Amino acid sequence: MSFDLSVISSKNIILAVTGGIAAYKSAIIVRRLKDYGFDVRVVMTHGAQAFITPLTFQALSGNPVHTELLNPEAEAGMGHIELARWADLILVAPASCDSIAKFAAGLADDLLSTLYLATKAPVWIAPAMNQQMWAAKATQRNLNTLVDDGVHVIMPDAGSQACGDVGLGRMPEPEDIAYQVMQYFHKAQRAIAEKFGQLAGQRVVITAGPTREAIDPVRYISNHSTGKMGFSIAAACYAAGAQVTLLAGPVSLDTPNGVRRINVSSALQMLDQSMLQLEAGCDIFIATAAVADYRVAEVAEHKIKKSGDELAISLVKNPDIVATIAEQQKRPFMVGFAAETRNVEAYAAAKLVAKKLDMIACNDVSRPDIGFASDQNAMTVFFADQYQLDKRDLEKASKQDIAQQLVEAIHDARLQHQPAGRNAHLDVSALDT
Ligand code: C5P
Repeated sequence: MSFDLSVISSKNIILAVTGGIAAYKSAIIVRRLKDYGFDVRVVMTHGAQAFITPLTFQALSGNPVHTELLNPEAEAGMGHIELARWADLILVAPASCDSIAKFAAGLADDLLSTLYLATKAPVWIAPAMNQQMWAAKATQRNLNTLVDDGVHVIMPDAGSQACGDVGLGRMPEPEDIAYQVMQYFHKAQRAIAEKFGQLAGQRVVITAGPTREAIDPVRYISNHSTGKMGFSIAAACYAAGAQVTLLAGPVSLDTPNGVRRINVSSALQMLDQSMLQLEAGCDIFIATAAVADYRVAEVAEHKIKKSGDELAISLVKNPDIVATIAEQQKRPFMVGFAAETRNVEAYAAAKLVAKKLDMIACNDVSRPDIGFASDQNAMTVFFADQYQLDKRDLEKASKQDIAQQLVEAIHDARLQHQPAGRNAHLDVSALDT
């Protein structure tokens, strides 16, 4: 599964390290959080510095490490109140018995306990301690207080401990802790998108990639489509709050986070799945797939053996998926794509009409710098006449960026609330579509 990490790039994490042997694992937490794109600042208690040095965290986080409350120099840089405001989340890992007790009691006699009181950000703690200390009534009482106060507790694992004991109290693996933090921001982002996103609550179906038309059990006809544009659009629709189903031809791409993927192979399978999705409920249908125009008339049951100098394979036309869906009575908002090598805009505009689409995005695949396998694209978007929207040129940009702009175009057109597929006044008679 691939995550859109752009959500993360503006988020600030304070990782607070307290005194316990698990402090060495916190170095890995910083690494992982940085890999995800978070800005990380580390706060260390005096106890933590007995286990690991501030220099380690400074090097890994790329930021100065904060250790003192009453240090004029540190306060002149980023004072404790400023630091508390800077954080989008405070993660205390490992959280010692002592730090938990201080939080529960509301003490403010060092930098970390003061930050805890001064922040509005969510506080997560990953307790790590000897199993007997974990089980102690006072610790459990303090933990309950913190849970009541809204602190999120990452429960310790059971297992053998550094002190030789066996039981609950080990800090979970640092990679898992960092992953949970990343997921938290994604979920928060999702909740906002589902309410306020440009496609909030919309059910979107996207076809992507090539199709594969079998010749015999081992051979097929296909094309060079990589599916990148369709997968980027799926991610952008999900980020805009939609429920996304991706009908993917054979491609080697990770499924975007949150997207439901159904793998298909041939054009007929893609059409069957498209019809099923339409029945299940679909508001917007986006056809990015490079569907094979023809399939083999009769697929050989066994591998075709080499024989004469020539071999003729008879092909029959595949159904046009996007046009078939557009013909249905309960048709969704229809978006098509056109890849052309000449007369790009004229052909695309004609396809908009011929296939009864609401919107079409076209690109010039004769340009070597964009299209198919490239990570970049440039497109022109046309809307059916009744939307009364001017064509839009999407300048060369990453496929993610183009996908985002396409979502905006869909949103703008849908705001018009116009029926589609009729009254498009274009003279298409001279064009061979
Ligand atoms: O006619 P052409 O293949 O150029 O049209 C491209 C558009 O039609 C794309 O949106 C493509 O996904 C869709 N299409 C389809 N089924 C086909 C052929 C194309 O859905 N058999």
